Amino acid sequence: MRPLAICIAPVICTLSVMLYHSYPVTAIKEVLPTNSSININTLNFKKNRKGKSIILVASHRTGSSFTGELLNANHDILYLFEPLRYIEGNANKFNQMSNIFHCQFTKSYINTIRDRQGVLRFSQGLRNIFKPRNKFKTPSPIDLSRMCNTYPHIAMKVIRLESLQQLEPLVLGDKLDLKILHLIRDPRGVASSEMNILKTISNNSVMWKLKSLDPITKNYCQRAVNMLDFSYNLPASLQGRYKLIRYEDIAIDTFNSTIGIYNFLELPLHQSVSNWIVENTKASNSSGFMITNKNSTAASESWRTRLQFEDVEIIQNLSPCDELMNIMGYHKLESLSQMNNMSLRSF
Ligand SMILES: *[C@@H]1O[C@H](CO)[C@@H](O)[C@H](O)[C@H]1NC(C)=O
Ligand SMILES: *[C@@H]1O[C@H](CO)[C@@H](O)[C@H](O)[C@H]1NC(C)=O
Ligand SMILES: *[C@@H]1O[C@H](CO)[C@@H](O)[C@H](O)[C@H]1NC(C)=O
Ligand SMILES: *[C@@H]1O[C@H](CO)[C@@H](O)[C@H](O)[C@H]1NC(C)=O
Ligand SMILES: *[C@@H]1O[C@H](CO)[C@@H](O)[C@H](O)[C@H]1NC(C)=O
Ligand SMILES: *[C@@H]1O[C@H](CO)[C@@H](O)[C@H](O)[C@H]1NC(C)=O
Repeated sequence: MRPLAICIAPVICTLSVMLYHSYPVTAIKEVLPTNSSININTLNFKKNRKGKSIILVASHRTGSSFTGELLNANHDILYLFEPLRYIEGNANKFNQMSNIFHCQFTKSYINTIRDRQGVLRFSQGLRNIFKPRNKFKTPSPIDLSRMCNTYPHIAMKVIRLESLQQLEPLVLGDKLDLKILHLIRDPRGVASSEMNILKTISNNSVMWKLKSLDPITKNYCQRAVNMLDFSYNLPASLQGRYKLIRYEDIAIDTFNSTIGIYNFLELPLHQSVSNWIVENTKASNSSGFMITNKNSTAASESWRTRLQFEDVEIIQNLSPCDELMNIMGYHKLESLSQMNNMSLRSF
């Protein structure tokens, strides 16, 4: 069932979106803790925010932190790093996205940021308003709202979205000028990166075996394939609002990919973004991002030197990762010598 594209009256609109998503959009707002100190009436609430609402949809270990920085480096964009973290349930997740795109912040989200200041590293806007813990007062929802309203555009990275369909009410109900960037990475790269993390947190050699990552990798591929399927038949409301990006393309030519992204966003590419790219894609820069234009091998194809060929074969034949690779133009490697032959491109 498709929602009505035209909302004759709010109640009909709500109903059609509800039928589609099986939860009512107006009721979603009420999922907010009644305790929350947000009083919507007192906020400078722009019902029809003019700016862009940008959502970077990604998965764990897909290079989304790096990609997000391409938005964060733009001083016209308030960029938030994984605001859906620690939020359970689709209705609550939707509510969080909707609120943030309207510059409304719950106390619980603010407390999460306060308690896990790691996210501040990735968000210029938040870093400016959050002060070192215990030394200063935690900002209030109103403080954040004011800060947020000084930005023309809002962007967030989410790695915990179940489906793109969930974003539709942001356009139908909230009337936001939504832009969706869907980031995909080669599942072999994702698995290799996951394995690296496991190695650093566990000395259990059993854990190091890629086999234990099969369900995670499979899950990643399934979600990506589902989203791609949805993207082939986008509902009218999302048409022109969706762009698929490959991490490998960003790694091999960050500047060109960024031009493509900003064209899609219909925003100018600021000098600050170009500067960030220049600084952070230097082979010498140890900013923490494993990426360099000078050696794309070291960046996006490091899995070729890290994984065993048997592991690569397993992933290539794991359904639906085989399908994902096919759709995305990731080439299968047929032998160890092919894997080691770096002049043979894998994407
Ligand atoms: C507010 O939250 C506190 C605990 O966080 C709870 O005990 C209290 O009942 C809540 N009040 C309302 C009005 O929901
Ligand atoms: C990790 O495991 C290896 C091999 O079993 C062992 O030699 C090493 O001492 C262990 N390291 C730590 C920090 O436990
Ligand atoms: C630059 O990016 C566009 C897509 O945004 C792509 O079509 C084109 O091939 C890229 N050019 C180079 C030289 O990579
Ligand atoms: C690396 O990048 C960071 C962040 O952009 C920048 O502050 C730093 O100066 C760069 N370092 C070098 C050596 O270019
Ligand atoms: C690129 O990085 C890979 C892996 O670290 C290395 O083997 C290779 O020699 C590098 N290539 C160049 C041209 O630096
Ligand atoms: C590596 O791949 C290239 C491109 O397919 C090929 O021309 C070359 O012969 C290969 N080298 C080896 C050692 O297999």
